[in-house]
Amino acid sequence: MTHAPQSSPQVVAHRGASEDAPEHTLAAYRKAIEDGADALECDVRLTADGHLVCVHDRRVNRTSNGRGAVSALELADLAALDFGSWKNRDAWRGRDEEPDWEHRPEDREGTSVLTLERLLELVSDAGRRVELAIETKHPTRWAGQVEERLLTLLKRFGLDAPATAAESPVRIMSFSARSLHRVRAAAPTLPTVYLVQWLSPRLRDGRLPAGVGIAGPSVRIVRSHPGYVERLKRAGHQVHVWTVNEPEDVDLCVRLGVDAIITNRPRAVLDQLGRR
Ligand code: G3P
Ligand code: CA
Repeated sequence: MTHAPQSSPQVVAHRGASEDAPEHTLAAYRKAIEDGADALECDVRLTADGHLVCVHDRRVNRTSNGRGAVSALELADLAALDFGSWKNRDAWRGRDEEPDWEHRPEDREGTSVLTLERLLELVSDAGRRVELAIETKHPTRWAGQVEERLLTLLKRFGLDAPATAAESPVRIMSFSARSLHRVRAAAPTLPTVYLVQWLSPRLRDGRLPAGVGIAGPSVRIVRSHPGYVERLKRAGHQVHVWTVNEPEDVDLCVRLGVDAIITNRPRAVLDQLGRR
C-alpha cells in the first residue's frame, strides 16, 4: 500500500461515498473516486449461485426494493432489484427525475447490485492508484468458499500475489480470524486487517491473530481506549479505524497517527486534512 505522508492518514471510502450515494453501488464508488479517496471499502457476500456481491446486510431488505437473504438469491434475482432508490435520490443524483432504466443504461448500472468483479474493473480503470479494502462478511458459514472465490477473482486481475504486502493495492479485512487465516494460507503476501469491535482482554496489549499486520478497531474503541492505538503501533501494526465521520474523531485519529481513516464522507475528511 502506498500512503499519504505520515501525518496524513489514508482516506478510505466506506461502502463508497455512502453519505452522498446509496452504499455499495457503482454510483457511490464512482463518487468516492471523483472525490479523491485513496481507497474504497466494500463488504462481500456469496450469492446462492456463487457470485461475490457487494452487500453489507445478510438480507437485501434495507438497501433494495427486494426481500430475502443474499445467500438465498441468485445473481439474476439481485440484478433485477433497485439498490438505489431507498436513499435520498435527488440529493445524490443531482437530478430530479426518476431513473430512466430503459433509455439511460447508466441509471440502472449505477444503482443495481454491484459484483466484486465490476468493482475491480472500476478500480483498474480509475486512471490513478485506488486501493481496495475488501471485507469478508460471515465467511465461516461458507466453509472457505468466500475466500476461495475471492482469491480466484483477484488472481484474474493479477492482484492475489503482490511481491510484498506493502505494495499491494488490495487488502482483505474481516472480523473472523479464521477467514484471514484462510486468505494468508493461500495468498501469504496479501495484507490482512483484523477488525476489532470489542476490545477483549486477549487483544488489549496490541496482539493480533498470527500473521495479521493491520488492526481495524472501531472509532468507539479508539475514543475510549486511545492507548490501544499506541500499543498496536508499538507492536508494529498499522491501524485502520472505522467508521470515522465526525470532525473531532478525524482530529483524534490524526493526533494518534493512525494509518487509515475509513469514512462515509471521504470528501469532507480530505478537506479537513487539507488534501483537496
Ligand atoms: O471497515 C470496517 C467496517 O466496515 C466494519 O463494519 O458493519 O460497516 O461492515 P461494517
Ligand atoms: Ca464493512
